Amino acid sequence: LDQLIGEGVAGRRVLVRSDLNVPLDGSTITDDGRIRASVPTIKALADAGARVVVVAHLGRPKGEPEARYSLAPVAARLGELLGRDVAFATDTVGESARQTVAGLVDGGVALLENVRFNAGETSKDDVERKAFAAQLAGLADAFVSDGFGVVHRKQASVYDVAELLPHAMGTLVAAELDVMTRLTENPERPYAVVLGGSKVSDKLGVIDNLLGKADTLLIGGGMVFTFLAAQGHQVGKSLLEEDQIATCQGYLTRAAEAGVEIVLPTDIVVDTAFPSGEREPAPRVVAADAIPADALGLDIGPASGETFAAALQGARTVFWNGPMGVFEVPAFADGTRAVAQALTEVTAAGGLSVVGGGDSAAAVRTLGFADDAFGHISTGGGASLEYLEGKVLPGITVLESDKVAG
Ligand code: 3PG
Repeated sequence: LDQLIGEGVAGRRVLVRSDLNVPLDGSTITDDGRIRASVPTIKALADAGARVVVVAHLGRPKGEPEARYSLAPVAARLGELLGRDVAFATDTVGESARQTVAGLVDGGVALLENVRFNAGETSKDDVERKAFAAQLAGLADAFVSDGFGVVHRKQASVYDVAELLPHAMGTLVAAELDVMTRLTENPERPYAVVLGGSKVSDKLGVIDNLLGKADTLLIGGGMVFTFLAAQGHQVGKSLLEEDQIATCQGYLTRAAEAGVEIVLPTDIVVDTAFPSGEREPAPRVVAADAIPADALGLDIGPASGETFAAALQGARTVFWNGPMGVFEVPAFADGTRAVAQALTEVTAAGGLSVVGGGDSAAAVRTLGFADDAFGHISTGGGASLEYLEGKVLPGITVLESDKVAG
């Protein structure tokens, strides 16, 4: 980014791909972390006199406009955080976008409507995707990739547009990559990884890769029940991916062979049904190897919270992705809180703690932890997992292509 700015951006239209995919309750933003994280790059460009055109997605609309996925509330919040007006275009590459961009003064900022309202953005058809990228590129003179949360997506506003314009990496992507490198290249040991969230199938690649790298792997959240089933336990009505039981058995065997310690919960907080607004939660703590048939696991139990915290004590590097339970409901938030607290202690002791993923980031903020209690809160969920899996991230490799800023 410094190089692009150094070459002079005053009066030039710079398209910035940010990840502004924030959780919304109606039109209220419940965690603005990703918007905050996107401010430095936008501000640096605007301060240097660029006409900044921000493009982003919200949720997963199916290629056409849907009011609930409008970025309008995000434009307002971005304006507050930047301390300047953000013009909002009600389409992405249509008449409103063209007029909004044409109306920008030097140092002005505009946000385009949700890029995923256009089928070309996520199309698997290269021709369709590239045609849409060309429309986006037509709005700008240069491109800055700053949406770390989407760099694993081969999409028009992330990948194809970079092939069409002089481009640079934004400061957020650069900072995130820096941390990811510290996690993958000679991490300081002991290195512990905590995985949670609902599905094992989302984490297969990362577990596979980490079995050769981490010293300790702690597992909680909905995905843990498939591991408990792999150990031969009944899991009642808890989330279970039957087709992954054998894979989890394989992981347990490989971990034992590789000397990687896998820590699973010994107790579980259960209820008879998933929490809903209609009834008060009725949490019960049961042993992880004796989950009753009518019970649904919703959090790791208090003894497990202590075990997890003890296992993290003394770690020099910790990566955490995925809540330990249904943290949105206070009765099932204690496991996630215990892990968050343990990570803050790693930070306080001078270790590197990294919280990855939208859900985990939202969890720590919802539970009242300050961002600076952690070494780093990554804006990327899938992107950070894919990086740790050792996968090629299209949105990064494309920046290494020939068409450099200038
Ligand atoms: C995220 O929420 O992880 C990013 O914004 C990417 O969103 P996606 O998974 O819908 O591509």
